[in-house]
This record gives sequence, C-alpha cells and structure tokens, in this order.
Amino acid sequence: MTGALEGRVALVVGAASGIGQAVAAAYTAEGAVVVAADRDGDRLERAAAAAGAASSVRVDVTDEASVTAAVQHVLDRHGRVDVLVNSAGVLDEGPLAQMPLAQWQRTLDVDLTGVFLACRAVLPSMLAAGSGRIISIASQLGLKGGVGLAHYSAAKAGVIGMTKALAREVAPAGVLVNAIAPGPVETPMVAGISEEWKAAKRAELPLGRFGVPAEVAPTAVLLASDPGGNLYVGQVLGPNSGDVMP
Ligand SMILES: NC(=O)c1ccc[n+]([C@@H]2O[C@H](COP(=O)([O-])OP(=O)(O)OC[C@H]3O[C@@H](n4cnc5c(N)ncnc54)[C@H](O)[C@@H]3O)[C@@H](O)[C@H]2O)c1
Repeated sequence: MTGALEGRVALVVGAASGIGQAVAAAYTAEGAVVVAADRDGDRLERAAAAAGAASSVRVDVTDEASVTAAVQHVLDRHGRVDVLVNSAGVLDEGPLAQMPLAQWQRTLDVDLTGVFLACRAVLPSMLAAGSGRIISIASQLGLKGGVGLAHYSAAKAGVIGMTKALAREVAPAGVLVNAIAPGPVETPMVAGISEEWKAAKRAELPLGRFGVPAEVAPTAVLLASDPGGNLYVGQVLGPNSGDVMP
C-alpha cells in the first residue's frame, strides 16, 4: 500500500458486505478516513471494524432523509466528503413478462435512485470545495443485459448513463464522476445463484473464473487517487474477467 488516499474523507455506501466492504478496507489501507454506510446495522458494525473505518452510519439509500442524514454525519465529523462510493445494491431474478411492478420498482429504487440520492447529497459540499470523486458500482449487465435481469440491467444502465451526464455537468467544477462495471464477483449477492448457473457462466468468461471483491477494490482506489484518477471523467471501468469488451 502506498498511502495513495492519505487523509481523504471517503463515504462508502454499501460497506457492510462484498465489494463495498473491500473498497472500505482498501481505502483505509491507503490512508483514507472512511465512513462506512449500509442499511444492515449488525453486519455494518462488524465490517466497519474489520475495514478500519473511522465510523459507521446506517443508511437506507431509498430514503431521501436517511441519505441526507448520512452525508451530514460525514460533514459533521470530518468537515468534507472527498470521495463517495456507491456500492449498495440488490439483485433478484424474474422474467419480465411476469415481473410484478413492485419487484421492478424496488430494484430501480435501490440500484438507481439510491445512487442519484447519494450523488445529490454530496454534491453541494464537493462543488463548494471545487473537488471530489464519485465512484458508482454499476455492472457489466448494464452494458450487455442479462436473462431474467431486465430490472437490474435497466438500473445499472441507468447508473452508467447518469454517471456520464453528471460527469459532464460537474467536471468543470473539479468533481470527477466515474463508474465501475464489474463482471461476476464472489459476494453474498451471487451466493444464492445455483452452482449450475455459475459453472455455465464461468465457462463463458475468457478468464474462466469469477472475481473476488479484493480484485475490484483497487479500481476504486485508482479512480479516487491523485494523479492516477485525475483524467478519468465519465468512464466505465470493467474489472469483469473479460465478460464484456466495450
Ligand atoms: N457481485 C457481483 O457479481 C456484482 C457484479 C457487478 C456489480 N455488482 C454491484 O456491486 C455492488 C455491490 O454488490 P455486492 O456483490 O458487494 O453485494 P452484497 O450483497 O455483498 O453488498 C451489497 C450491500 O448493499 C447493501 N444494501 C442493499 N440495499 C440497501 C439500501 N437500501 N440502503 C443501503 N444499503 C443497502 C446491503 O446491505 C449490502 O451490504 C452492487 O451495486 C452490485 O449490484 C455486483
């Protein structure tokens, strides 16, 4: 570790598990002051301690007031938010022809509107500071689509589109906005999927295997770092085992 994020204040949303937890750990290892945020309080406490986070805060990204309060927690304690990582997400499956509106809406609420709310909440302080980094975990399914995953693919494509639009909007003011679109990564999110599906998926991947969270987190370090991340604006980086080659 090189201290690439020394002294940076980072809010990592979705830090109780998987990729968000690995990003929180990688950021603290690089010298950042991390505030770990998640909806799941028990797992959050454990994950925040394991990651060496400065503090943790409960947040439901679908709840506007909860997101505002989480960002205020960071501002009250640390005076600024240098980096926002959006890693909260949910995934379930279902063919679109039978998909209840509530299932569609729930996925859009967490995976897309949650990212919007968090971005909107941190932007005033980042714009006032004239600097900041926003990194959202999208998915390669937002680029290629997935069977039974129309809701999830739509939400992730939305994150990618929003990332590009927001990047154009705020880069002139010094705030750099980018996305990471991982391929399949071994986390609790994919733990419930059948071994048969996973074996077929692995066979499709040029690398022949899923990633692990620690292999995604360094991309989030790069995007937050100076000078490494300085020229990335509205980009979608793909640690994806070769699943998509844009
Ligand atoms: N695992 C994969 O294969 C994969 C691939 C591509 C993209 N992603 C994306 O990466 C991100 C992290 O996923 P993961 O695999 O680490 O999953 P995970 O289930 O391990 O972690 C997701 C976290 O989000 C939190 N969360 C869910 N709803 C929330 C809400 N309303 N408010 C606050 N927190 C909430 C959960 O409590 C959990 O801690 C997600 O956005 C996911 O869509 C995952």
